[in-house]
Amino acid sequence: MIADEVYYGLSYDEERPFTSFGDLTTTVPVIATGSLSKIYCVPGWRCGWVIVYDNAAQSLKLVIENLNKHSMILLHPNSLVQAAIPAILANVPESHFTELKSKLKTSSEAAFERLSKIHGIEPIQSRAAMYMMVKINSEDFKDIEDDIDFCKKLLAEQNCLTFPSQCFFAKGFFRMIICTKPEILLEFGDRLEAFVKAHHKDHA
Ligand SMILES: Cc1ncc(COP(=O)(O)O)c(C=O)c1O
Repeated sequence: MIADEVYYGLSYDEERPFTSFGDLTTTVPVIATGSLSKIYCVPGWRCGWVIVYDNAAQSLKLVIENLNKHSMILLHPNSLVQAAIPAILANVPESHFTELKSKLKTSSEAAFERLSKIHGIEPIQSRAAMYMMVKINSEDFKDIEDDIDFCKKLLAEQNCLTFPSQCFFAKGFFRMIICTKPEILLEFGDRLEAFVKAHHKDHA
């Protein structure tokens, strides 16, 4: 199993804490990817890693050998970033993660509450990571073809950048970020509402 765990630990739903795939099984071999960018908030550092959880039969022996060979290829983060990793892993206090999760929770709640008031879209409250998916009720709009059209027009008319869900192989939603201050999310909510009203059938 290959698990993308780039948001390792970033669940802010107390009832559903984060569990790594590596902790779920000793029989299925797991390759988990992680990175500094999200959980340590340094996206520009471009530094990630792979953790291999092999089983007793050593199913991933050859994979580990080849990962080691791959790590010799000169295509990796700069030396300063690599040199900082041991100190980051050893010294960043738990309070950093507690604070990050608390901020994300506050932002998620603020965005959900604001967007819930907009007729024509339906936010799905996020409980982990840094994004929220929002359903677009296409039939409510007079001149929006699909999620790509929605996001393109929202950018052109309100200067708000969102991602159409077709980027993630699903139709009819857009993805917004929540890793920002609640006041910015409220400003986004206002612009989104103005956009939705301008294209909604009920406001013809
Ligand atoms: C699910 C997921 N995996 C991986 C990545 C890539 O992370 P990085 O910025 O460390 O390359 C992202 C970035 O948005 C992501 O959302």
